[in-house]
Amino acid sequence: MSSLALYRKYRPKTLRDLLGQDDVVTVLRAAASRDSLAHAYLFYGSRGSGKTTAARILAKIANCETRRQKPSFRAEGEPCNVCGQCVVIDTGRSLDVVEIDAASNRGIDEIRNLKESVAFAPVSGAKKVFIIDEVHQLTKDAFNALLKTLEEPPAHALFVLATTEYEKVPATIISRTQRFHFKKIPMATVVRKLATIVSAEKFKVSREALMLIARAGEGSLRDSESLLDQLTSLEDKVEAITVERLIGTVGLARVSELADLILSENVTGVSHYLRNFEDSGFNVVDLNKELIHYLRRVLSVAADASLLDLFRDEFGEDAIATIKTHAAKIRPERHISLIRSLIRAHSEMRYSPFAGIPLEVSLIDFFSSGSSPRVKK
Ligand SMILES: Nc1ncnc2c1ncn2[C@@H]1O[C@H](COP(=O)(O)OP(=O)(O)OP(=O)(O)O)[C@@H](O)[C@H]1O
Ligand SMILES: [Mg+2]
Ligand SMILES: [Zn+2]
Repeated sequence: MSSLALYRKYRPKTLRDLLGQDDVVTVLRAAASRDSLAHAYLFYGSRGSGKTTAARILAKIANCETRRQKPSFRAEGEPCNVCGQCVVIDTGRSLDVVEIDAASNRGIDEIRNLKESVAFAPVSGAKKVFIIDEVHQLTKDAFNALLKTLEEPPAHALFVLATTEYEKVPATIISRTQRFHFKKIPMATVVRKLATIVSAEKFKVSREALMLIARAGEGSLRDSESLLDQLTSLEDKVEAITVERLIGTVGLARVSELADLILSENVTGVSHYLRNFEDSGFNVVDLNKELIHYLRRVLSVAADASLLDLFRDEFGEDAIATIKTHAAKIRPERHISLIRSLIRAHSEMRYSPFAGIPLEVSLIDFFSSGSSPRVKK
């Protein structure tokens, strides 16, 4: 196994490789191809979505020697990643690319140092690039000092400010930058990148496990990549169950098994299921939440079969087939009230020392209110 963290090893090296940020990529590449980068950018939005990565790519674009020598290459709007400048920037050894973590350097002194450094010409590159991460953390005085620098930057300076908290950046700073919004990365895109990493690293990870990892990241590729890293160092073969254990969440297979018992009106099966589930130490609140989501999906497919296509990106073919079978079994007049009661159970469960009980009561109530309760095998 490699010692370099996966998320660093698979950090995109070109704008083209930045996933799920098409608008950002299009505009930045166009500016790069015309050699008309702005002097200050503000990258804001979701964590782990590529802001710092994009800032470093811009730093390379601004200094790439191949771009300077070959206009035909420059028109591609990308760094070459092989020239001396690209390489020193990639390895974090460039004296002309200054990264400041505003979370730990919040004050006026740091910004004063920065201002002094801005005044000096680049050491070896064409531009001096200042990447200020978590910029919203700066103090008021520091913001004021930064503002002066942004108002009259020397021609050799390029600023990239990054933040997850746009609202905390003063309007005066915002108005002096070109803004780009970084979105959460869609689950299907995360799964695709994880799958590429899995095959490049020759890991063994099941499809359902990948989907759980993608979902757990909540749109942050870094978080999903870190989780994949952690799981593959724990086990040679990663299955959904391992992911479920680690993050304490419940996978689709497990939930659709319960839904199947419910939709088949199998009372005995449901009570066995719940007993086994609690014994295995998983989180029953999570089970209920996933069950609600699952039944909601099945219900929507029953109402409109074309919705199945929406789920194709998110689920494997097996899961799609199961959802379809369940959609044929669901009876809205009976199951909508079940979903309502599960939702009520959810809020009760979160604060209850007997988390399992509201779910169980909900299900018992459902079965006993059934028009024709049957126990199938
Ligand atoms: N859009 C993306 N496309 C491909 N990989 C990405 C993307 N966003 C993040 N990653 C992966 O996650 C890692 C971390 O991304 P990065 O540091 O750029 O995120 P960030 O937006 O700066 O996060 P934070 O808000 O926490 O600072 C990258 O090295 C890369 O592996
Ligand atoms: Mg960052
Ligand atoms: Zn280069």
